[in-house]
Amino acid sequence: MDKHEELLKLAAEHGTPLLIIDHDKLRQNYRTFKEHLPRVQCYYAVKANSEQQIIETLFEEGSSFDVASYNEFMQVYQYIKHFDKKERKHFVWDKIIFSNTIKDSPTLAKIKQYKPLVTYDNSAELTKLKHHCDTAGLVLRLKVPDTGSQVEMASKFGAEPRDAQQLIQEAFDMGLNVEGVSFHTGSQCTNFDNYTVALDIAATVLHDARKKGFPLNLVDIGGGFPVPYDSSVPHFETLAVLLNSEFARLFEDDIQILAEPGRFMVATVATLVSEIIGKARRDSKMFYHINDGVYHTFSGVVYDHWIPNFHAFKDGETEICAVVGPTCDSFDKISLSVQLPRDLEVGDYLCTDNIGAYSNASSTKFNGFVGAKILHKK
Ligand SMILES: Cc1ncc(COP(=O)(O)O)c(C=O)c1O
Repeated sequence: MDKHEELLKLAAEHGTPLLIIDHDKLRQNYRTFKEHLPRVQCYYAVKANSEQQIIETLFEEGSSFDVASYNEFMQVYQYIKHFDKKERKHFVWDKIIFSNTIKDSPTLAKIKQYKPLVTYDNSAELTKLKHHCDTAGLVLRLKVPDTGSQVEMASKFGAEPRDAQQLIQEAFDMGLNVEGVSFHTGSQCTNFDNYTVALDIAATVLHDARKKGFPLNLVDIGGGFPVPYDSSVPHFETLAVLLNSEFARLFEDDIQILAEPGRFMVATVATLVSEIIGKARRDSKMFYHINDGVYHTFSGVVYDHWIPNFHAFKDGETEICAVVGPTCDSFDKISLSVQLPRDLEVGDYLCTDNIGAYSNASSTKFNGFVGAKILHKK
């Protein structure tokens, strides 16, 4: 059975919209990452797709996790705690980093008992950490360039490098421990100079702190690793060669290197089958109304600046069409320019590839539509 036949069969069996998650591909993505970046411990960014089965497959492969909220922290912790028989001192650090630089006080109070590893980028956060979670290991998030990345980060997160020594000093003065530094070059980072500059900034801050006697020993290079959505995207393998040579040049062997890939692990593992539920020519353009939209699995079109793709299961002459979602909201337009075969029918299926990252994770229940059914192909 070829891929299209299989998708049609699954859609007929399970109904649509149907999001199919391929765990062989997930394992392959993890192994590619590790093979090309052997010095890096992977902390999968759960926010990209928080399906429990994804966490379980990646954990089995050896992955650790980056979480952004108390619920994500507990989702991972509750699962992995059963596997730690050795009661290691840094069990949680090895497996979880809480890399949202801003955490509210109740969250800090609740995670204190786990002695978490957390990021920070400002003095007010240090005050909260001192009061509510002084067991934490700290990682100072630095502001780095994110030029050309699909989703920019630098305007919301990261301490200015010129303030870094002060923020490290302040933490130690309060009796807190800074373990290292982190950065994020922006999501879907296709401009690899961002990584080179960021690593230089991180190395300077880390080495200056070490010279002052502060025992920093960790560099977290964040996410951003590009997904091959189309042939213009530079290859991850090329980036890995560059990163490995910079690691060797900048960081002694005792410095631990972490990364938080999100999209790289999950974007390519999911395929969505949706169904045409209505059609109308509007101003001479064909509008296909389908049973999934931007409030649901196509939420990445809004939040992730994602450009969706559609394939029909029919051949024939094509025309430029619009594909829109099922809600009553006029904002629910997925794309106004998709090349599809002429005269598709109500009831025909459409297929969308590479829709595993920032898709179902940010789906809502708007207008009473609950989003796609998720099928895990293990
Ligand atoms: C702190 C942090 N780490 C990792 C990620 C994952 O990034 P990506 O999906 O680009 O790999 C994000 C994404 O928003 C993030 O904010």
